Amino acid sequence: MTMNEVPKIELHLHLEGAAPPEFIRRMAQEKKVDVSGVFDEAGHYAYDDFVDFLRVYEAATAVLQTPEDFHRLTLAVLEQSAANGVIYTEAFLSPDFCGGRDVVAWREYLHAMQEAADIAEAQHGITLRGIITPIRHFGPDKAKETAICAAETAGDWIVGFGIGGDEAAGEPVDFAYAFDMAREAGLRLTAHAGEFGGPKSVRDAVNDLNVERIGHGVRAIEDPVLVEELAARQIVLEVCPGSNIQLGLYPDWSSHPIARLRDAGVKVTISTDDPPFFHTTMNNEYNNLAQAFAWDKDVFKDINITAANAAFCDETTRKTLLAKLE
Ligand code: ADE
Ligand code: ZN
Repeated sequence: MTMNEVPKIELHLHLEGAAPPEFIRRMAQEKKVDVSGVFDEAGHYAYDDFVDFLRVYEAATAVLQTPEDFHRLTLAVLEQSAANGVIYTEAFLSPDFCGGRDVVAWREYLHAMQEAADIAEAQHGITLRGIITPIRHFGPDKAKETAICAAETAGDWIVGFGIGGDEAAGEPVDFAYAFDMAREAGLRLTAHAGEFGGPKSVRDAVNDLNVERIGHGVRAIEDPVLVEELAARQIVLEVCPGSNIQLGLYPDWSSHPIARLRDAGVKVTISTDDPPFFHTTMNNEYNNLAQAFAWDKDVFKDINITAANAAFCDETTRKTLLAKLE
C-alpha cells in the first residue's frame, strides 16, 4: 500500500527545522555564513544527540536573516510537504530567529511568510497556519517577549502558542506568564513535553500551562494513570515517531508507543518535527507506521480526522479539511 495519496494533516513542524540541507547551503554561500559543523560528508545535517541537534539547528538557522529568506524558506518547505500529500500544516515560528523578538520586525517576517503561504496554497493546495514558539533554553524573559509578538499578531493566521527547545531547561511553570498572555490574546496552546522529560513533564505542561495539545508526549506511556488522564481529558498528542527514533528515545518503529497510546484511547496525530534532520517525510512516517502496526488507510483517516479536529484553525478551514479527508 502506498501512502502518497493519503491526504495528511500535520500539526507539528518546525519551519526552520524543515529547511532542506541544500537550501541552507545555498543561502550560506550567498550570505557568506560559515556552516562548518552543520553537515556531514554526505551533506546531511550532522549531530550527536539532542543537545547537539539544538546547536546544529541554531547554526543552520543563522543563515536565515531577512523576511525574504523566510519567504523562500516557507515556499521550499510547503512544496516539500505538499509533495507528501499534506493538505494542512501548523508550523512553529520563532520570533527569536525573526528579528530577535522585536514586534515591528516580527510583523515584517510574518508578512513575508504569509505571502509565501498564499502562493503555496494557490499552487499546491496546501494551507499553512502559524504557532508562535518560544525556545525553552532561551529562558522565561525571552518567552515573555515572544508572547508579546504572539499577542500582537494573533488572529486567523497566527493561531497558537507552543514552547519548544531543551526540556531540561527550567520547568513549565516558569513559562506560565507567557502562556497566560498568549491565551488571553485568543491563542490556542501546545507545549513540547514527554520527549526528553518523563511523565511528570507532561503532567506539568497540562496542569501548569493549560495546554490542550502536547508536542510529543509519548513518554506518558511510562505512567498508566497519566495515560488514562490524557484519554479522559482528550489531550491531543502531536506524535513524531521518526524524530523520536532518530533521537534515540526508541530503538525502532515497532517499539514506539504511538499504537499503545492510541489503543488506550489517547488522541494521537502524526507529524515529522524537523524532517530533514531526522531523514524523514510524512510519507516515510506513514509507510513505517503501516508496516510496524499493520495500520491501514482507515486508521490513517481516523488519525487525520483527529488532527483536523485538533487543528487550531477557524471553523471554516476545519470544515474544508474534514471534507477533503472524506
Ligand atoms: N526544536 C526543534 N525540534 C525540536 C524537538 N524535537 N524538541 C524540542 N525542540 C525542538
Ligand atoms: Zn518539535
